[in-house]
Amino acid sequence: MIVLGIETSCDETSIGIIQDNKIIVNEIYSQKIHSEFGGVVPEIASRAHLKKIVPLLNEALKNASITLEDIDLIAATAGPGLIGALIVGYCFGNGLSLSLNIPFVPVNHIDGHIYSVFLENEELSFPYIALLVSGGNTSLFLVEDYYKVRELGNTLDDAAGEAFDKVGKLLGLSYPAGAIIERLAKDGNHDFVNFPIAELSGKYDFSFSGLKTAVLRYIQKNFPNGLAEETKKNIAASFQKAVIEALVRKTILAVKEFGVNNVAVVGGVASNRTLQAKLLELLPSTSKLFVPAPQLCTDNGAMIAYAGLKSYQTEHYLLNKITQPFPN
Ligand code: KG4
Repeated sequence: MIVLGIETSCDETSIGIIQDNKIIVNEIYSQKIHSEFGGVVPEIASRAHLKKIVPLLNEALKNASITLEDIDLIAATAGPGLIGALIVGYCFGNGLSLSLNIPFVPVNHIDGHIYSVFLENEELSFPYIALLVSGGNTSLFLVEDYYKVRELGNTLDDAAGEAFDKVGKLLGLSYPAGAIIERLAKDGNHDFVNFPIAELSGKYDFSFSGLKTAVLRYIQKNFPNGLAEETKKNIAASFQKAVIEALVRKTILAVKEFGVNNVAVVGGVASNRTLQAKLLELLPSTSKLFVPAPQLCTDNGAMIAYAGLKSYQTEHYLLNKITQPFPN
């Protein structure tokens, strides 16, 4: 089956076309305009999706050397995400499916990330522990099969990527700051400040808002007149160390408790090489780590197409459990 996947939940407009688990094209347009505001502005995001979605579809079809008539199934992100942004892709996909008289499958964005590791990858098998780390989510899952997923824990406040972005703002960096912090941290001293790691009653839960506040207080107290480049690097390295330690600790706990060998790290923060290296270093030797390629870590249409295909094949979508942009 040839599947068209549409993603517009936040600030990426993306159209992916896949055949089974092979990507034919995965066009991603990241809306740069939000960097002026230090974060995503929902209305601007919706308008930018509207402007870009038709040109992106045409580009995807051209690069895939197919026409709309070759598509068998359309999937679009239905939630969670920014409501005005979701509506653009959801309605566009639904309308397109009606005009082509082919099925339409709404996809939960989280499922898109969880199964993104299967794209272009024949090695991964169930069960696996999935660590989802992005700008909007930080959660641990036990994934037993397609659409048989147990959420083990979640962030109680900020997502890890959100913490990277907010600390980036404190360091005077542009948005999104995750990759910039990683770059600065490479030349910094990660023992410069001993930032706290939250101890929580839910053993698989995360919390990053206290860490973010600790960075703020540290800067206010010690560097009220601004930060030198060297200090920025040291704070970036110390902050990144604390985030990674929390993520790695809980992932290892889950691997041991559930006796699962395969581990997948998905979402925008998964492209952090220091996180990947720490997991490789500390996971039990029997574990296998799977990380999607960087363009599959970020929000993208190919992962929505794949999750949509599996939802269609398993008839999961008929259960109507998926978040709709227009809940009753
Ligand atoms: O999955 P994603 O593209 O979309 C959202 O959930 O918004 O993730 C984007 C997030 C941003 O917060 C960004 O700062 C973070 O992922 N990110 C990183 C890295 N690359 C992107 N965080 C840490 N290290 C990176 N290398």
